[in-house]
Amino acid sequence: MGSIVVSKSVLSGEVEVSGAKNSALPLLAATILTDEEVILNKVPHLADVETMFDILRTLGKKVQYDRDSGVARVSGAVDKAHVPYDLVRKMRASFNVMGPLTVMLGEASTPLPGGCAIGVRPVDYHIEGLKKLGFEIFFEHGEIRARVGKKDEFVVVHLPFPSVGATEHIMSVATLLPGTTVIENAAMEPEIVDLQDLLNKMGARVRGAGTSKIIVEGVEKLHGCEHTIIPDRIEAGTYAIAILSTGGEGQVKNVVPEHLDALWSVLERSGAYVKRGTNYVYVKSPGKWHACDVNVLPYPGFPTDLQPQIVVYLSTAQGTSTVTENVFKTRFAHVAELVRMGANMKLKDNTLIIEGVEKLQGATVMGTDLRATAALVIAGFVAEGSTEVTQVEHIFRGYERVIEKFRGLGGVLEYRPGGVPEI
Ligand code: EPU
Repeated sequence: MGSIVVSKSVLSGEVEVSGAKNSALPLLAATILTDEEVILNKVPHLADVETMFDILRTLGKKVQYDRDSGVARVSGAVDKAHVPYDLVRKMRASFNVMGPLTVMLGEASTPLPGGCAIGVRPVDYHIEGLKKLGFEIFFEHGEIRARVGKKDEFVVVHLPFPSVGATEHIMSVATLLPGTTVIENAAMEPEIVDLQDLLNKMGARVRGAGTSKIIVEGVEKLHGCEHTIIPDRIEAGTYAIAILSTGGEGQVKNVVPEHLDALWSVLERSGAYVKRGTNYVYVKSPGKWHACDVNVLPYPGFPTDLQPQIVVYLSTAQGTSTVTENVFKTRFAHVAELVRMGANMKLKDNTLIIEGVEKLQGATVMGTDLRATAALVIAGFVAEGSTEVTQVEHIFRGYERVIEKFRGLGGVLEYRPGGVPEI
């Protein structure tokens, strides 16, 4: 794996956000539900999106993608009932093709996804939900095999936790099953609303996304359509935090500001200036900022995918901050690396206690997952001297043209490839 060498920089200026990775992936999985052409605009060119394209092609779909315009055209019928281990291993979101594939072919199998750097990440809510929808499910040799069974006319799936993936999976599958499906305690993320919009354009009857109760009335068949993916709120938040962590000011463009209210409120409490425009946000550092307490929660709470980045911001705040992670309770791999850069922080259960320090120092640190790696790159801009972030390819899973975008903000950084190509 390669590394990124980052030098202390003040980030300022403008940056444009891409389409949302965490919308693109479930929306691409939903294209399995029709043989007709689905055109998706603003599909970001990312390693995870390429993996999803590979999965769709392996299953028999035709995928054309123009990386410059971001237009993906997906068409044709699925004709393979198995997702290969290599693709599932690369990306957990690939599990979400299992339900749609089963609905289209009657039976399908996929390896069970393993753990990953941010936690154990089981799929039990997906499986319990699919069983309620009448699926027969078998586990064999690390694989899960599913068969469409008989669904009751009216089914309520109550999720034990508002899981994003399980909500998307059950919602997508239910569109083509008879009768009514109600998902209670559903995740309310903007990406769920985006998926509902796509499914309804495909002829589905889904309502309630964005609230904790989603109602799906099954239809016979879905058809093709065209849809534009929402802006990536996590990418937007990452650049806003990066600018403020370095004491800069700038405009983040192509944002739906209300998707990030929880972030803006933390930044404002810290003393930063935040102006919410119609489709942009302008942020300005106060020079020195205050400590804050952050509670990471499902949407509309503070997003777990911005937790490592806000930890970097708070590492040089004045005073003591706490960050409590309630979504992935063990998602703290970045902490040990930040401590090596001079941060003063301690973990107590799922709460990180951060004593703000004057400055961070450059060091060689290791990226463990997508958001932790982004956080370490930000820490590199903050730190005195030079920082080398190793195992850096994680960042290309979720940040389109990230080197170019940071350079556009005045960031000094260099990518040293190490086997995996930058995309
Ligand atoms: N959970 C279970 N059982 C399940 C499903 C989830 O116990 O069957 C638990 C998880 O272990 C976790 C919590 O429920 O503790 C929430 O997980 P969720 O299912 O909501 O996460 P996900 O769908 O696997 C998506 C994003 C993640 C993001 C989370 C939370 C995609 C492709 N991934 O994952 O994004 O962190 O929601 O918002 O949408 C990232 O982009 O870096 C990333 C990890």
